[in-house]
Amino acid sequence: MQGAGVDRDGVAVVVGASGGIGAALADQVRARGRFRAVIGLSRPGLDLTDEGSIARAAQRVADAGTPTLVIVATGLLHGPGVEPEKALRALDPAAMTTAFAVNAIGPALILKHFAPLLPKDRRAVFAVLSAKVGSVSDNRLGGWHSYRASKAALNQIVRTAAVELCRSHPQAVCAAFHPGTVATRLSERFAKTGLQVLEPAEAATALLDAIGRLTPDDSGGFLDRFGAPIPW
Ligand SMILES: NC(=O)c1ccc[n+]([C@@H]2O[C@H](COP(=O)([O-])OP(=O)(O)OC[C@H]3O[C@@H](n4cnc5c(N)ncnc54)[C@H](OP(=O)(O)O)[C@@H]3O)[C@@H](O)[C@H]2O)c1
Repeated sequence: MQGAGVDRDGVAVVVGASGGIGAALADQVRARGRFRAVIGLSRPGLDLTDEGSIARAAQRVADAGTPTLVIVATGLLHGPGVEPEKALRALDPAAMTTAFAVNAIGPALILKHFAPLLPKDRRAVFAVLSAKVGSVSDNRLGGWHSYRASKAALNQIVRTAAVELCRSHPQAVCAAFHPGTVATRLSERFAKTGLQVLEPAEAATALLDAIGRLTPDDSGGFLDRFGAPIPW
């Protein structure tokens, strides 16, 4: 990790550090040793459905230093009362609300409270884990309505934030990443045979290398783990 890693005065933040990919990202950012501190945030301290907890977490980060790398590695495909839908008849408003709360609104609130902490005078990266199934143009299989739609909403939120951020933070990069199919709690029941399934550490290495190569021209992008654009 070059660019994002040269700033020893900066603090790195991984939101969702309890998750499969989030834990691997936090471990590797620590191992690369290029930040003054690496702060992992997760429940119960930070709950995406509780804006107060996000604001308090942002204050704790601000007290620790200036964040120059923020990675949002949270997400929800299934959980209590939430199952990826196979057809319209399975749509449940409460489950859809939960998917949007965690996958779209929560990261938007992280942007709201953490983007103002980024430095205005040097490079900073705000990376959010999205999913390729959130691509509208790439959707040929259907299904997973809530997850797909909430990730599409997330992509638009990241893009909109990037437009705003580049005005005040010209060296900042704000981008959405697809990590690949990765062996975690989220995917274990759904990874199809024949699909390449990565270990979290492998995905984290590729993501951090790609994050290190980002330039402000990449801001607002929807990218794979190597930094290549994914169609919206
Ligand atoms: N794994 C894949 O194949 C794959 C593919 C494409 C995209 N992604 C994306 O990659 C990201 C990471 O996924 P993962 O595979 O690492 O999944 P994971 O192991 O299930 O981790 C999900 C993370 O999200 C957190 N989270 C969920 N709801 C939350 C809430 N209300 N408040 C705070 N944190 C919450 C979890 O916290 P708790 O530990 O407290 O539950 C956990 O840290 C997600 O955005 C996912 O959509 C994954």
